[in-house]
Amino acid sequence: MKIVKAKDYKDMSRKAANIISAQVIMKPNCVLGLATGSTPIGTYEQLVEWYNQGDLDFGQVTTVNLDEYKGLTKENDQSYYYFMNDKLFSKVNVNKERTFLPDGMEPDSEKACKAYNEIIASVGGIDLQLLGLGHNGHIGFNEPADTFEAETHCVDLTESTIKANQRFFASIDEVPKQAYTMGIKTIMQANKVLVVVSGEDKAKIVKEAFFGPITPRVQASVLQLHKDVIVVADEAALSLVK
Ligand code: F6R
Repeated sequence: MKIVKAKDYKDMSRKAANIISAQVIMKPNCVLGLATGSTPIGTYEQLVEWYNQGDLDFGQVTTVNLDEYKGLTKENDQSYYYFMNDKLFSKVNVNKERTFLPDGMEPDSEKACKAYNEIIASVGGIDLQLLGLGHNGHIGFNEPADTFEAETHCVDLTESTIKANQRFFASIDEVPKQAYTMGIKTIMQANKVLVVVSGEDKAKIVKEAFFGPITPRVQASVLQLHKDVIVVADEAALSLVK
């Protein structure tokens, strides 16, 4: 595991965007695993800037996102589909037909998860997976549990995640209680994993996840076993790491 220390959020975003750019330049038809949440927004902004300058071409790229809320339409501005279009897909030349997320509007969980596993298999696996880190160590929506779930599954979101997401909704009742998420095996099978972390509020979980014991209680800790992980974190997020 490689830890890259960034000065601040902007620097973290630039460094992460550099790594993604290198991937796209080295393999123009790569498969990018993407994340939503607040942490990667600056990374996407930087990629869009470089695309606008003519330095990046997403024309042959395929994307598979980590997760999607169950029950939110694509038009809902809190759906991850909406987020990805808003932050990246509508701003670069990626072929929309080659951008994939779990189908949040499929009410049959088994069907939705099976379909998404088939999509991930059909694109040939993930070259680079971008991840954010939840305060409880979740990656995707793989919440603290007794085991690691292998493939795409439907999760009941924890109270802490529902509360953390509340800021995006009019009331806590509107926050979805379930989501479809890629599983840990799928994430671990990505050739390269890039984790972005920012802020002092993440310092404790950074230490636990990347320097503590490997346990499904802190799902991100499993990344310590991956052969090629880069954590790009700012000074605040690394403040508890010696
Ligand atoms: C997003 C995702 C989540 C977030 C995590 C951190 O697709 O899967 O695991 O990466 O909740 O979120 P932020 O970046 O908002 O702190």
